[in-house]
Amino acid sequence: MARTPNSAADGTEERASSKQVGVLRALVPYFAPYKPLVILALIALTITASVSLVLPVAARRVIDGFTMGDVALLNQYFLGAIIVAAIFALGTGLRYYVVTRLGERVVADIRKAIFARMIGMSPAYFEKLMTGEVLSRITTDTTLILSVIGSSASWLLRNMLMMSGGLVMMLWTSPKLTGLVLLIVPLILGPILTLGRKLRGLSRQNQDWIAASSGKASESLLSVQTVQAFTHEARSGAEFSDVTEKAFDSARARIKVRALITMIIIFVAFSGVMGVLWVGAIDVRSGLTSVGQLVQFVIYATIVASSTAALSELWSELQRAAGATERLVELLNAEDTIADPKTPRRPSVGAVVFENVNFTFPNRPDALALNNISFTIQPGETVALVGPSGAGKSTIIQILQRFFDPQEGQITFGGISLPEMERSAFRKFMALVPQDPVIFASSAYDNILFGRPDASKDEVVAAATAAAAHDFISALPEGYDSYVGERGVMLSGGQKQRIAIARAILRDAPVLLLDEATSALDGESEALVQKAFEDLAKDRTTLVVAHRLATVKKADRILVMDQGQIVAQGTHAALVAEGGLYARLARLQFTEDSAF
Ligand SMILES: Nc1ncnc2c1ncn2[C@@H]1O[C@H](COP(=O)(O)OP(=O)(O)O)[C@@H](O)[C@H]1O
Ligand SMILES: [Mg+2]
Repeated sequence: MARTPNSAADGTEERASSKQVGVLRALVPYFAPYKPLVILALIALTITASVSLVLPVAARRVIDGFTMGDVALLNQYFLGAIIVAAIFALGTGLRYYVVTRLGERVVADIRKAIFARMIGMSPAYFEKLMTGEVLSRITTDTTLILSVIGSSASWLLRNMLMMSGGLVMMLWTSPKLTGLVLLIVPLILGPILTLGRKLRGLSRQNQDWIAASSGKASESLLSVQTVQAFTHEARSGAEFSDVTEKAFDSARARIKVRALITMIIIFVAFSGVMGVLWVGAIDVRSGLTSVGQLVQFVIYATIVASSTAALSELWSELQRAAGATERLVELLNAEDTIADPKTPRRPSVGAVVFENVNFTFPNRPDALALNNISFTIQPGETVALVGPSGAGKSTIIQILQRFFDPQEGQITFGGISLPEMERSAFRKFMALVPQDPVIFASSAYDNILFGRPDASKDEVVAAATAAAAHDFISALPEGYDSYVGERGVMLSGGQKQRIAIARAILRDAPVLLLDEATSALDGESEALVQKAFEDLAKDRTTLVVAHRLATVKKADRILVMDQGQIVAQGTHAALVAEGGLYARLARLQFTEDSAF
């Protein structure tokens, strides 16, 4: 049951060696709109970093001033020190404000961009990626980036200044010893670079597992009643624990590598400094350098060494951020198998035509879900789809909205093939009542308004009335404003369905798609809703999937489907006379109905 997280196993290594921290460049465009803030941040960073280098000097001056006894000079030094402190405080405050704000701003933009991308993806994409994983990427990965932008950036700049400043001072103190120190640098950089690469791969894996565990948790929590009804809590817990432990394991692997890097660096740096000191000591012995010079050199070397160590630590942080960025970039650049055309044609209301459509679902490539489907619905016509469960009825409705593209054949609307139009453009002409009504966590009113957000209150009430939903909505504690719970948990199945119907009625589109729209209704509401549909269907192109043949009888034409094929079509009377699958279904259905 526990799936491996996306692309943790595959491709990571290969990508790790090719891109590394360079992935972070993908973030640059998100900073572009905030150039003034970026510049301000850089200024603030530079001020605080340089002042933190000057601060020790200022302190030393003040102390030296004491010992000198020159009061005027002492006052001057004190004043100078206070000014330096003021600049430092100002710079730090500014830095904190600007850098953090910039980080939050950029992260908010990235989150919005990802959501905008994801909400437009076709269903095939989400068959591979769990929604909980997407959510984890949007929250935890962006948070990781935020922490890097927020804190590491200033730390990075500061240490870079310390390192280069320290190096200059070292060179000035003793070129010979500096040369020796520089020999150690490759010894430090070597492990940082090679192990760093591994670190990034592990970091990405870690984030992948975290995302997988979010996916698992959200899936179980969203179906908590079913989990409990089947007393599956312990199993669900174990499954979640499995994935969480995997996340922990990958975190441990990451931490281990990082500890190793730190260890190597400290040892190489320390023994290197000792070695240099040893050479220096020999020089002092032979009178080539003074003791003071050596001490000064060692102080600067220590500064350089510690800032190098800090930089390597930062490097690891950047590797982590790079892993997170890579995961976000994957979402941002996600390729959709279905795309809108560059120069779309404008849709117009017209016939719906399926021509020799063959279709298999992307994740089930060897089963034909639709097998050579051809039919036409003229404008204003009502066509019914009937057939056993799994025949492919809902698939036809999905394909008609271009949630998937068929492998062969084409679908046209108003004489234009679907891929030649923008999906949002022709979907505006369609109103759907899906098989499983989807209700959002808001009020009954907002749920109906979803069908056409610019509708008036009266229109919403009229739609609800037509859908036989007005009475029960009015009886809710706060009427139309009543909150219906996440996914409509506070409503019954039939109530949810009536809200979904009201939504489609409100949409007032020329094409009506009803996928077993009344399956959860009691006889009385169904009769009411049926009447509304009949009125609605009069001047509309209607495709209705129904298993109650009573609703189907009034259709202009009936398509009988079985195993992805249209096995018969005609009017109710003709099909009954033919005596095939339809006649069998009809016999069962009518004896059932007469039992009421
Ligand atoms: N997203 C999907 N991926 C793979 N197979 C699917 C998917 N959705 C439906 N199917 C399969 O396609 C067939 C037709 O399903 P569907 O159109 O929902 O049937 P129905 O006629 O009951 O509405 C079924 O065998 C179903 O298992
Ligand atoms: Mg169906």
